[in-house]
Amino acid sequence: MMKTQFHALPFGAIALAVALFADGATTVAAENPTLKDVFKDHFMVGTAINRSIATGSAGFRRSLEFVEKDIALTKDQFNQITAENDMKWQLIHPREGADGYDFKPADAFVDFGVSNQMYLVGHTLVWHSQTPNWVFAGTNPPPASVGGVPGARPGRGVYTGPRASRDELLERMRDHIHTVVGRYKGRVKVWDVVNEAIADGAGTNILRESLWLQIIGPDFIARAFEYAHKADPDAILRYNDYGLENPVKRQKLITLIRSFKEQGVPVMAVGSQAHINVSTSFETMDQALTDMATLGLPIHITELDINTAASGQRGTGADIGANASLTEGGLISDADRKLADAYAGIFRAFIKHRDAVKVITFWGVNDAVSWRRSGSPLLFDGNNQPKPAFDAVLGVLTEPDFK
Ligand code: G3I
Repeated sequence: MMKTQFHALPFGAIALAVALFADGATTVAAENPTLKDVFKDHFMVGTAINRSIATGSAGFRRSLEFVEKDIALTKDQFNQITAENDMKWQLIHPREGADGYDFKPADAFVDFGVSNQMYLVGHTLVWHSQTPNWVFAGTNPPPASVGGVPGARPGRGVYTGPRASRDELLERMRDHIHTVVGRYKGRVKVWDVVNEAIADGAGTNILRESLWLQIIGPDFIARAFEYAHKADPDAILRYNDYGLENPVKRQKLITLIRSFKEQGVPVMAVGSQAHINVSTSFETMDQALTDMATLGLPIHITELDINTAASGQRGTGADIGANASLTEGGLISDADRKLADAYAGIFRAFIKHRDAVKVITFWGVNDAVSWRRSGSPLLFDGNNQPKPAFDAVLGVLTEPDFK
């Protein structure tokens, strides 16, 4: 087994160290420490799962044999799961009307989690991306007459036909949220109610120029949270975004969430995606968590991965459209070691802020199923073998500061 830079302890020795030196509450089985057990007194450790894992069937780029191994790894290591794609509007509600829902894959996700006693996160109710055109289309003239086939190609392009009125779009949003949240009430414990609504860049605009903003106005976020709260008053409602390691974007988040709290909008947790690269240090994450914790809400790290692709060191974007350029060019030199160091650094920050950080979700179970697969960004390789980064993460709790 490979070694971490920090402890120079082989995997087995880290296992023993965690068992022997952690305080009584964090003692875990010495033989095969798992993420969920090692961190159980601090936060949940979860993963996004794809449809193949939820349904137990061969899938995109993964044979059944490997899917079964992915399922075993998921059950072994994680106590929380998020649906990577199947609860997105495009997939769960592709067509207009009461018959326009396709619940089968999302139902499989929920069944998988419930039967394995996992904490379930629903992702995501309102997003500028992966939303079918019909949602934004005006009914007069009907959308089919303006060149679009409603519901057929949600795609990445932004809908450009005649638009729904504010009331029409609010009603579609309300119906969608009530139907989806209502269906899984009591089982899905956390919802990403609104995803990635904050504008990138240094401009003064807080909100992204999405169709939600343009058609409804800035209160679209507040309305979405109110609808979700009505649909399941016990669910934890999360605002989720990426790039919050950047102080400018983070300040926009803080301004936005403060204003929600002042208005009594039921936002209950901050989701920080953390699609980062190896230059994100302990200090960077520590500062981000320190600032976000001033909001007084639980912080969930919602989509964690660390890109080791050479070209992926420039940014921390989360747009699937820009992904190819961020995963080209081969890996950085000494990628395994740099990944281990970066993971150890950010986990030190998570542990330091354990009073605020309640959930850590990796965005995929292993490198092979990651949206950034060419950037080898996760703790397990495509054969589900732990990488040095896995040892480094487990090793953090054996450090003197955290014992
Ligand atoms: O399943 C189909 C397959 O049948 C088809 O042959 C193939 C052809 O391209 O596409 C497959 O679907 C892809 C799907 O991922 C499953 O792999 C879609 O094209 C692709 O667009 C989709 O990308 C997802 C992306 O969000 C867009 O929704 C990624 O898996 C998913 O990891 C990514 O996750 C987002 C979060 O939701 C929000 N934050 C950023 C994060 C990364 O972009």
